[in-house]
Amino acid sequence: MTNTATSPVVHARAPGKINVFLKVGAVMDDGYHDLATAFQAVSLYEDVRARAADDFSVEFTGSIDTSGLAVDESNLAIKAARALARATGYTGGVHLRIDKNVPIAGGMGGGSADAAATLLACDALWGTELSREELLKIAATLGADVPFAFTGGTAIGTGRGDQLSPALAKGTFHWVLALAEFGMSTPSVYSELDRHRTRHAQDIFPVQQQPTVDADVLQALRAGDPAMLAESMHNDLQAPALQLAPGLGRVLELGEANGALAGILSGSGPTVAFLVPDLDAGLELQVALSAARLHVVRATGPVHGARILTS
Ligand code: C5P
Repeated sequence: MTNTATSPVVHARAPGKINVFLKVGAVMDDGYHDLATAFQAVSLYEDVRARAADDFSVEFTGSIDTSGLAVDESNLAIKAARALARATGYTGGVHLRIDKNVPIAGGMGGGSADAAATLLACDALWGTELSREELLKIAATLGADVPFAFTGGTAIGTGRGDQLSPALAKGTFHWVLALAEFGMSTPSVYSELDRHRTRHAQDIFPVQQQPTVDADVLQALRAGDPAMLAESMHNDLQAPALQLAPGLGRVLELGEANGALAGILSGSGPTVAFLVPDLDAGLELQVALSAARLHVVRATGPVHGARILTS
């Protein structure tokens, strides 16, 4: 039996993300869509504390309501720990305590951040010491966004979104995030996009073979220029998400009428991310959106990927 009172704890942290650009291409043989996306890691974090145990378990704490989250084998953090144990032949288990700050089912990659931080924490706790490349390979088996939660910063994702190349970025971008009271399932938003494309014979949403990230986006990130980024942000999942949740249209309008340079659906939503010129504009927009009874948080990016903390 593991003595939980005295066993060491490893603390790892991984960030949420915003896709500042997301073009969805054709469905591939594995059922996933071919993507071109620009990820930015932002300062909302998942903190994972891992303690040696005989079996695999997870509990949640944190600033947001986690009561609806699965804590059984379907949880992505448990899947991550089990995948690492399988890959390394480790025969023990782990107890994970996750302090959650990324909105749940919000399109900001919170579950992916849990998985990335868990891989890093367990690797350190168990002394399995895989290379970064080996950990990234396991990350890609867990979900399309897990490798980015691992690497963080600013990156271009292709394929399922898991083939990453770093992008040059300067400065800090300021975001105001309007959180929804409901979650949205990623597969249902992709299905809605597919339905649109079929229904409209691809006139309205032409499917781009081998989508690419627009050069303007890369230039805006490289220059650290929020106005230029606001002009070039794009998300192919926004129209289908608005179809499923029309109220998000009003949220986008409200933000853009109150000082946002632009608003964009984060990933598959329903979180709406507003880009603002600076901290002061962010505070003003937060006040305006809060007055409309929206739940709002601020964040900056880019930030680091998954790392071990010494607390
Ligand atoms: O990999 P992950 O579990 O995050 O993906 C969730 C779902 O999102 C997939 O099951 C799929 O329906 C959809 N998806 C997709 N194409 C991608 C990424 C995700 O169709 N490139």
